[in-house]
Amino acid sequence: MRVTVVGSGFVGQMTGMRLVQRGIAEVVLIDIVEGLPQGLALDIKQSAPIEGFEPLVTGTNDYADTAGSDVVVITAGFPRQPGMSRMDLLGKNAGIVRSVVEQIVPGSPDAIIIVVTNPLDEMTFLASEVSGFPRERVIGMAGVLDSARLRFFIAEELGVSPSVVEAMTLGSHGEAMVPLPRHASVDGRPLTELVDEATLERLYARTRDAGAEIVALLKKGSAYYAPSASVARMVQAIASDSGELLPACAWCTGQYGIDGVYVGVPVRLSRGGVKEIVELDLNDDELRALRIAAEGIRAKCADLAKL
Ligand code: LAC
Repeated sequence: MRVTVVGSGFVGQMTGMRLVQRGIAEVVLIDIVEGLPQGLALDIKQSAPIEGFEPLVTGTNDYADTAGSDVVVITAGFPRQPGMSRMDLLGKNAGIVRSVVEQIVPGSPDAIIIVVTNPLDEMTFLASEVSGFPRERVIGMAGVLDSARLRFFIAEELGVSPSVVEAMTLGSHGEAMVPLPRHASVDGRPLTELVDEATLERLYARTRDAGAEIVALLKKGSAYYAPSASVARMVQAIASDSGELLPACAWCTGQYGIDGVYVGVPVRLSRGGVKEIVELDLNDDELRALRIAAEGIRAKCADLAKL
């Protein structure tokens, strides 16, 4: 499988490295900065003899070199600075995402696009509109990341390994994140039996604000280890056609009573993109929260048209 990663910032380069190192894909790194993707590709390749993987990575500034990609990951754009919300990036990053998609599509008309650039949900919609691709071939990465953060915080709180914690978040990558406590478990036990309501709320708030917490600490740039791990996980699911259930930003067509908008929902990923949006059994509160998230994204997407 051939994967192009657009943007050679930390998220892009780490995503490329993870994909190559794990043998998931042959990777093309592309960036507008001359020499940057080429230098990173060389550096990754030189780690191959030590780490023991096939050095299938190239760096380029020319979109012609990305032709024939099966998956295109878009990380290009500005990250947040301390104090900024993801939405503050809407105007700045819309032009970048639009231009990237326009340049990617001619050479890779059959690709699946995974959007990582913020504000995530709106940029996924924009990429979908500009590409003209079937909606199931344009998805956004955020649910895997937010869920991983929640799983980590639960594990830390309870003093257990993150590997025994299952949890999923839906909704938007932002204020309207929707955690699903009834679907969370630790070592097979329901999370709601292990922690009280106040603790749950604290863990959710920290998860929702986890990106901002890291931005504030780094002072320059935003998170990249967990975001890149999340993208690699999605690409792996696509490459292996596993059909496994992962939360992602996907186009709803009536699922959960939501229609004609991108929002974070559980999906099955395959070689064709989103194979299915799975409707979990949500209670009224959870459904309401998910619909509020969807309507918030719909409104912001309408703002995009005015830019
Ligand atoms: C974060 C950014 C990538 O959540 O949205 O860290």
